[in-house]
Amino acid sequence: RFHPFIPAGGVGSRLWPLSRADAPKFLLDLTGSGSSLLRATYDRLAGLSAGPVMVVTGRSHAGAVQEQLPELTGDDLVLEPSPKDSAAAIGLACTLIARRDPDAIIGSFAADHVVEPAETFQGVVREAVEAAATGRIVTIGITPSSPATGFGYIKAGESLGLERAPHALTVEQFVEKPDMETARQYVASGKYTWNAGMFVAPVGLMLHYLRHSEPELADGLDVIADAWDTDRRDAVVDEVWPTLTRTAIDYAVAEPAAAAGDVAMVPGDFTWEDVGDFAAINRLNQVDPGGDSDVAILGKNNRVLSDESSGIVVSDTGRLIALIGVQDIVVVDTPDALLVTTAEHAQRVKDAVNSLKKNG
Ligand code: GDD
Ligand code: MG
Repeated sequence: RFHPFIPAGGVGSRLWPLSRADAPKFLLDLTGSGSSLLRATYDRLAGLSAGPVMVVTGRSHAGAVQEQLPELTGDDLVLEPSPKDSAAAIGLACTLIARRDPDAIIGSFAADHVVEPAETFQGVVREAVEAAATGRIVTIGITPSSPATGFGYIKAGESLGLERAPHALTVEQFVEKPDMETARQYVASGKYTWNAGMFVAPVGLMLHYLRHSEPELADGLDVIADAWDTDRRDAVVDEVWPTLTRTAIDYAVAEPAAAAGDVAMVPGDFTWEDVGDFAAINRLNQVDPGGDSDVAILGKNNRVLSDESSGIVVSDTGRLIALIGVQDIVVVDTPDALLVTTAEHAQRVKDAVNSLKKNG
């Protein structure tokens, strides 16, 4: 049986001052659709599984997540006391699912991407589930549009020749977040795709690689799972969780599994955007290109006047914002912080946030 789940953590600091510790990227509506990225991810997955979709998130986000997903029942909302990166979050989901259904095919889907259209995505995932049933960890590959260093890169080989997963390919190599020079070579070679941040696999195979790479992490997750259905759950989680190794699933599982020939890839034949920074949000919200003014406006309560300008304004403050003769500008107005930058420099917002943190 297919058990999809969503690890939802990380703040997304390149989206400051929109993203905050208590308003992480996955809880934001970055498309103007009225839904948070998490809600949209959940809705895309709900049609794929007869059973529930599990969400793994921080305790501090429990209320906000429950508000976004009122249909999520207690058992399917898995809470961690502190962020320990994706290997711990995904490993906990896998460990809990394996206890209930050792033969499960799991699907881990990042909480904070824009994916369209849902039907195409679902067709790709159905193929991934078929390919995973042949004993592989299946990734989704996205055609790269730049040598971005924030992604994993997948080198695919030949067709797996599966009747029910005709697009599934073997994978020769998985490299998480290469340096810029390497990423340039990969993209120029035409042989690599980006990893979409989704994994579909037999639960036992995920846990096999996790245990092999991170035995202490796997042991800790077992101790937690042992106590999960008892009244000691919170006490054991509080004791064990802080000791867990902090690493990403891509290093702990995807890279070694690919080196051993246990990874496959299905091309993600849909629009996929990681929405990592305001330049990406601007790309997603293009309006009337070529018009006199080309400013995308996001936010519930905004008043924007623009003349011969292009870029994006995000505002919930209701304050009047006027743009005159500025190109590719990014303006993000919040009650206690105002960001002004350009699409070109949007990546550097993270550095600004880091120095703000350092200097209090
Ligand atoms: N619950 C929980 N707790 N979830 C977490 C935590 C955590 O501490 N840390 C990360 N996650 C979740 C994120 O919310 C996201 O859904 C997923 O795990 C991936 O983590 P990111 O931190 O967003 O990873 P990344 O963006 O640097 O890289 C991953 O995604 C890329 C695509 O966007 C990798 O899988 C790359 O290979 C991939 O290209
Ligand atoms: Mg991410």
